[in-house]
Amino acid sequence: MPQDFFKASLAETLQVLSRVIGPTFAKGVIIRRPSGEHSAARFSLDSRAIATLQRLRYAHGGRAVLLNLPVRPHLVLLDPADVDHVLQRSPDPFATATREKRAALNHLEPGNVLISDAPRRAQLRPLHEAALATAERVHPLAARCTALIEAEFGAVAGHLPGNEWGWEDFSTAWFRIVRRLVLGDAARDDEAFTALLDRVRGRANWAYFLRQNRALREELLRRIGTYQANADPGSLAARMPRDEAIEPASQITQWLFAFDPAGMATFRTLALLALHPHIASQARAEAAAGHGDRPFTRRCFLESLRLWPTTPAILREATTDVTWGGTRLAKGTGILIFTPFFHRDPARFADADRMNTDIWLSGDSLPLQGLVPFSAGPGLCPAHNLVPFLASLAIGFFLSRGQLSLVGPRMDPERLPGTLDHRAIRIAQTHTTA
Ligand code: HEM
Repeated sequence: MPQDFFKASLAETLQVLSRVIGPTFAKGVIIRRPSGEHSAARFSLDSRAIATLQRLRYAHGGRAVLLNLPVRPHLVLLDPADVDHVLQRSPDPFATATREKRAALNHLEPGNVLISDAPRRAQLRPLHEAALATAERVHPLAARCTALIEAEFGAVAGHLPGNEWGWEDFSTAWFRIVRRLVLGDAARDDEAFTALLDRVRGRANWAYFLRQNRALREELLRRIGTYQANADPGSLAARMPRDEAIEPASQITQWLFAFDPAGMATFRTLALLALHPHIASQARAEAAAGHGDRPFTRRCFLESLRLWPTTPAILREATTDVTWGGTRLAKGTGILIFTPFFHRDPARFADADRMNTDIWLSGDSLPLQGLVPFSAGPGLCPAHNLVPFLASLAIGFFLSRGQLSLVGPRMDPERLPGTLDHRAIRIAQTHTTA
């Protein structure tokens, strides 16, 4: 049972709004705005957001804070025990389908599991789990994933001047892989499709503040439907039933867009490895052994997600009045888990701002420690195995071709920055294997 929450003063509410919620929204929740991420890095906005919540925690002993926001009240969690309490009790009484999430995701995937009510979730969730092989460390499409990584990164590497990788180079290969893996080989060069998806995601960033463009959304879903109808068996789309009753295109849209943060986190992992050559050597040896499951590389990837979480805000909503400590929390109250605050908690981790792969020795979803890059409980990301698996293969591609060095941005490994703008990363590769 959680401790009582406290009601934030107006000054505290304004601080959380301006330093935590505002900058997170400005950075872009559904698709990163380059200017938002650039400003966050330049002005250390993520570190400031973490410091703001740390001050609240010290002032009020770790109790959750109720903010009286204009649209509706929100409870901000500050204790990992509360994170565990809420995430384990989804979707009832803490719904995953919050009003904010519905407002954003209705722009692009109105039928998606993330914004479905409990009975509909019960129907959809197993379909995602089956397609993405949630329980398996190595996805059944492993051989295909390996072939795609080799072919597409290899193709870009062949044309790279000076063997220096920037986000443009990395993402060109990454999105070819994603389109082929999710939709099938026919989608490989359909960059116009990714541009359309990004356009709709850009609208979704504005949630309630922008009218839905239904024609654009229907065009996106129609194109996904056409790809699915012709998808080759080695694609994820072929693993989702083609039954209009489950709105398959809305389900697949989430996969396509979620592979974007997966790519960012993979590229950031390469930056981390370039900064830590001894850790890179261990991951290189693991890749050389050639097994599908690569626990050490996976932990490196999880460190990238701990240091720079790609889902900074996990939201829930009380479906009914609930007792929180000794007090009533009203139905409809929003709940915010701001993951960077927990992931970078110096009170819990001596190495909060350094790379330490040991943090992940006991699993990839550790809500009682506040480590939830893939969420936890019944709403746990169904790709929490597929994503680190694919990332490990990509990382292995780079490591097996030589040493990596970080051209930019400059980072102190003893004090890693609160934001790492993935577009600013440049990695040089020397073609001498260790
Ligand atoms: C770095 C990569 C990723 C991260 C960090 C991540 C993280 C998350 C998180 C935190 C949630 C839960 C959100 C919540 O509780 O409100 C979630 C849900 C989900 N993710 Fe991922 N995800 C990633 C990539 C992917 C990919 C590539 C796919 C599909 C191929 C995927 C499919 C889903 C789906 C379908 C849900 C909704 C699950 C549900 O509501 O039951 N994710 N993800």
